[in-house]
Amino acid sequence: MQTEKHTHKHHGKSSRGVLDANRILESIGLENGDKFLDAGCGDGYISLAASKIVKSSGRVYALDAYEPSLDSLRKEASQNEITNMEVIQADMTVGIPLDDDLVDKCVMVNVLHGFASEKTLIPVLTEIKRILKPGGTFAVVEFDKVEGPPGPSFDVRLSPEDVELILEEHGFTIGGTEEVGRYHYLVESVKKEL
Ligand SMILES: C[S@@+](CC[C@H](N)C(=O)[O-])C[C@H]1O[C@@H](n2cnc3c(N)ncnc32)[C@H](O)[C@@H]1O
Repeated sequence: MQTEKHTHKHHGKSSRGVLDANRILESIGLENGDKFLDAGCGDGYISLAASKIVKSSGRVYALDAYEPSLDSLRKEASQNEITNMEVIQADMTVGIPLDDDLVDKCVMVNVLHGFASEKTLIPVLTEIKRILKPGGTFAVVEFDKVEGPPGPSFDVRLSPEDVELILEEHGFTIGGTEEVGRYHYLVESVKKEL
């Protein structure tokens, strides 16, 4: 885990209204019993959908740096009587408070472009690799690199090729890229086996 202190800078809107959580989770093959990390979960609508798929033998780790979003997720999880979810407040540029080789599948939805523009990819992707099982899946979802709303400004958006290159450069093997909605694509990668 990194010890250097960084400040969490990019918040951003929930993609709840423009993305279908189940389509993403189906695309990565999430299954009953999986340990799943939603890295930069925001209000956690993807974590909530994942908790229904991994069921009681699995576990969902919903992680974000921004406490108000996590508060709303805690409320929604408690209203839905969800017991297989851990809500974790952490700054991923500093560290992810999970054990090595723990997680089967991790998604990062509308977050990676922020780390790319802040130049904090190395600490974050080193942590993602550490907590994933060898052969575990890391899927990045980003807005298409086009002008206009919804989504972040054009200059910080990443193309699928940009994301593939970033993942390859940081030690992941690309599995494939597909459209997952009107505005988004998903790049699937795996942590190399030892
Ligand atoms: C655009 S929002 C996306 C939220 C959610 N994934 C979605 O698609 O609705 C980006 C999220 O990343 C979180 N984030 C940004 N930097 C972070 C960091 N260093 N550590 C943890 N979370 C971070 C923000 O707090 C915010 O909730």
